[in-house]
Amino acid sequence: AAIKKYQFDIQVKNVSRLCHAKPIVTVNGGFPGPTIYVREGDRVLINVTNHAQYNMHGLKQYRNGWADGPAYITQCPIKTGSSYTYDFNVTGQRGTLWWHAHIHWLRATVYGAIVIMPKPGTPFPFPQPNREEVLLLGEWWHSDVEALVKQGNKMGLPPNMSDAHTINGKPGPLFPCSEKHTFAMEVESGKTYLLRIINAALNDELFFAIAGHNMTVVEVDAVYTKPFTTQAILIAPGQTTNVVVQANQAPGRYFMATRSFMDVPIPVDNKTATAILQYKGVPNSVLPSLPQLPAPNDTDFSLSYAGNLKSLNTPLFPAKVPQNVDRKLFYTIGLGKDSCPTCLNGTKLLASLNNISFVMPETALLQAHYFNLKGVFKTDFPDKPPKPFNYTGAPLTANLGTSHGTRLSKIAFNSTVELVLQDTNLLTVESHPFHLHGYNFFVVGTGIGNFDPAKDPAKFNLVDPVERNTVGVPTGGWTAIRFRADNPGVWFMHCHLELHTGWGLKMAFVVEDGPGPDQSVLPPPKDLPQC
Ligand code: C2O
Repeated sequence: AAIKKYQFDIQVKNVSRLCHAKPIVTVNGGFPGPTIYVREGDRVLINVTNHAQYNMHGLKQYRNGWADGPAYITQCPIKTGSSYTYDFNVTGQRGTLWWHAHIHWLRATVYGAIVIMPKPGTPFPFPQPNREEVLLLGEWWHSDVEALVKQGNKMGLPPNMSDAHTINGKPGPLFPCSEKHTFAMEVESGKTYLLRIINAALNDELFFAIAGHNMTVVEVDAVYTKPFTTQAILIAPGQTTNVVVQANQAPGRYFMATRSFMDVPIPVDNKTATAILQYKGVPNSVLPSLPQLPAPNDTDFSLSYAGNLKSLNTPLFPAKVPQNVDRKLFYTIGLGKDSCPTCLNGTKLLASLNNISFVMPETALLQAHYFNLKGVFKTDFPDKPPKPFNYTGAPLTANLGTSHGTRLSKIAFNSTVELVLQDTNLLTVESHPFHLHGYNFFVVGTGIGNFDPAKDPAKFNLVDPVERNTVGVPTGGWTAIRFRADNPGVWFMHCHLELHTGWGLKMAFVVEDGPGPDQSVLPPPKDLPQC
């Protein structure tokens, strides 16, 4: 195992896209930021020196929430002019992840890929690619994103949608002034390519396809999957997907394209980003053809795609699905209007889990937990909603008494947890990509409508369900996940649509220390930022 060191200088830089230049926050001046290349077993030291409020988040940190990154959850923000070193070991994960800023909407421009190669001598469980490429899917705004979100939170209205999607920071030639902002990848006939695809968008689940070429999905969220071939993939913010592509078509130029999946009515999506897959020797004058992408509201595709994802589950990479459950949790996901007296007469939007809209603390929760500081949070987050209702029935306009609080759920070390996330029709049904820090989980079941505790568990897949860290809860439906709480600390769980996170669609788990010598939260590093 090696020690890999990186220096991240957070600096503001002028970047121009779509005919306008604007200052954005970058790492080392790049957009997207640098790729971190590591091997399973390595120790990684990333020294971050800041010029803007900045926190980083990337891997599953074992006992080491100090390197996890979400502001006010595991650490205080790194103040302007100071540094913090994220020091962690890469264990038990291989494939593609990504790092990103984890405060407000700063991740709009502060993000990059993490490539984790397997241990030496452990080959990929799929054809060895001739070459690989990272594709970061993102969004671009004309306006300053942080200013937009402040305005959005104040007005209680969603901030403007972005102006374009991007692939590796570039919108592609379908946008004005964007010929030179087009990502191109050269391929050679007969060769095999591994694409490491990351959805770094703030608010859009995305389809991605390549004209004329199928993709074989081999890994998601740094866990190998049973390979399956598809014309398009669906990827939610926070998720990663590795696909193998054969350059087996007539030499030419082919568009890769990405656009939103949204199965609730939204304004027409004209943000499709394109990049070019270019066969070697083909002149740039050849016009590329566009791929067929599923329709923006293609729920059927989304459900069948999710159903095709399964853990590889081989002796070398077993799916260790908890067969028994110690703790059953049922959380409703609700959007609503804030009824608080200062909330613009009930027009301010909010979002909640079990009718609780999460309030960010002013001290980092992990510090409060480790040092036993009182009064920062409570551990009375309810295991189920206050009272059951027809979650996905006719639109419920009242927000059913949503409350606010920094309420966490305490989980015993090493217990097995089942969490059912139930979308509701409070205000509207919508798909929510949920991300849990500190863990991978198994997606044991999903369905449309209300979860039925009497019937649905019998249909759970406890053999080879996909293992990941972010899962899309379907519009007007539910998703059940299971994990073993063997990683002590305070772990954030939130919707990875930043708009919803900002409205309070988040909470955190406190996983208690275990009795053993290596089962407690590690001491905090000396340079841990203070609030
Ligand atoms: Cu991708 Cu809480 O983060």
